[in-house]
Amino acid sequence: MKIMAGNSNLPLARAISAYLEMPLTDASVRRFADEEVFVEIHENVRGEDVFVVQSTSYPANDNLMELLICIDALRRASAKRITAVVPYFGYARQDRKPGPRTPISAKLVANLITQAGADRVLAVDLHAGQIQGFFDIPTDNLFAAPVMAADIQTRYGTQELMVVSPDVGGVVRARSLAKRLNNAPLAIVDKRRDRPGQSEVMNIIGDVKGRMCILIDDIIDSGGTLCNAAQALMDAGAAGVSAYITHGVLSGGAVARVSNSALKELVISDTIMPTEATASSDRIRVLTIAPLIGEAVRRIADESSVSSLFD
Ligand code: R5P
Repeated sequence: MKIMAGNSNLPLARAISAYLEMPLTDASVRRFADEEVFVEIHENVRGEDVFVVQSTSYPANDNLMELLICIDALRRASAKRITAVVPYFGYARQDRKPGPRTPISAKLVANLITQAGADRVLAVDLHAGQIQGFFDIPTDNLFAAPVMAADIQTRYGTQELMVVSPDVGGVVRARSLAKRLNNAPLAIVDKRRDRPGQSEVMNIIGDVKGRMCILIDDIIDSGGTLCNAAQALMDAGAAGVSAYITHGVLSGGAVARVSNSALKELVISDTIMPTEATASSDRIRVLTIAPLIGEAVRRIADESSVSSLFD
């Protein structure tokens, strides 16, 4: 087997290859003067089981093109099986038509990856589980929850915990984390806008008074959802609020918003390479999921069970 990397998250790709104790495939993924992507693989991959690590994070379109072109290069070099390892699958939030004459871009991206020549996909915490079904090739969806649960136990294990979903859509994810935390109780932030034009009211379902609240979500983008939820929880009497989020998209002024929020700490995984602002923030901590992805890659290569990683 071989591990190849695009440029979107080289530190993660290197950490995965270190876990697997094998070097990254010698390849260059670079730009021509006009910014077209060019890929050249400098070693034989004929008949190999190749895993290409590339998150389609910002800049999403460039990183997606790199992934597609890497897959094309591998296919034309006669790799036996190509797995697109996409720790952060961008465009995932466009998974349905929000209105007439709008696209379902997550499905389009799934089609592109398949058509480029991928035989399998490995992703982490897909925004919606059903995105797995957008691919007509085997797709493994890993969960960061075990890594997060272990960290929560270490940091907050002695406190009265409450797992909180920042919106109604995230309840299944929150419940699954709560189960891993000795069945910690669950609360939900329910955003309501009674009339159009009125500002949103945050109702907390569950009694968070005196509890250390752990907000859980798949994505932090602008930070609005999380920071507002954290404030609402503090207003409802929470002892403290920390957030565990798989994908730190952190666009625009999100890092500053987090720094000025009621959040004690934001913990993200390294599915997206942290920017300098993220890495230097004393309010944000990054947990690596390289061993989890590395182990899943090893099991796929060995044809052994991936789901048992989460038992
Ligand atoms: C939404 O469905 C996602 O799970 C996140 O809650 C959302 O993308 C977060 O976005 P933002 O940080 O911009 O509020």
